[in-house]
Amino acid sequence: MARGRPASPTKVTLTARGDLDPTARFFTAGDAARLVYCATGALEKTRERLGRVATIVDAGEPVDPGWLLADLATRDVRRLMVEGGGTMHAQFLTAGLADELHLVVAPFFVGDGRAPRFVGDGSFPWHPGHRARLAEARQIGDVVLLCYALSDRFGEA
Ligand SMILES: NC(=O)c1ccc[n+]([C@@H]2O[C@H](COP(=O)([O-])OP(=O)(O)OC[C@H]3O[C@@H](n4cnc5c(N)ncnc54)[C@H](OP(=O)(O)O)[C@@H]3O)[C@@H](O)[C@H]2O)c1
Repeated sequence: MARGRPASPTKVTLTARGDLDPTARFFTAGDAARLVYCATGALEKTRERLGRVATIVDAGEPVDPGWLLADLATRDVRRLMVEGGGTMHAQFLTAGLADELHLVVAPFFVGDGRAPRFVGDGSFPWHPGHRARLAEARQIGDVVLLCYALSDRFGEA
């Protein structure tokens, strides 16, 4: 805030279907800017549904995460935390767009082979012949945070 930044960072979401709930806390809590990147096919519906609570951006079809980052940069977003599910994670990681990976290991088992994975299928830049660099391992209560450096920009922002 001392540097003239807003107290809360801009909130960004990405949707292909546009079925997001305008009463969700994402849209109602706090006064941070809210951006919805929407695939062209669902643009009209999304503008009607969410136009009063967020800025809706036509993100093309299909949405390309590299384009999304470039657009965010034009809006002065320099650092983005991607908090996905597996689809979102896989897209940013396979495209080589992530500089840091923060992974938390929890001390319990899910025990269901149908449970969603951290990433979906894909060709990832890190493999046995090209390992990511472990930059930090930190205990936080009963979990462990592992920070991997995925690019030369790690820790810059
Ligand atoms: N922090 C966490 O621990 C955390 C966070 C999130 C999710 N999860 C878990 O991860 C699992 C899967 O979550 P999820 O299905 O919500 O996440 P996801 O697999 O990453 O996908 C979420 C949604 O993002 C949109 N999306 C992703 N890529 C897109 C693209 N290229 N273009 C347009 N829209 C795109 C789609 O929204 P539309 O359906 O609106 O089109 C999609 O349904 C769940 O078990 C969830 O609990 C955990």
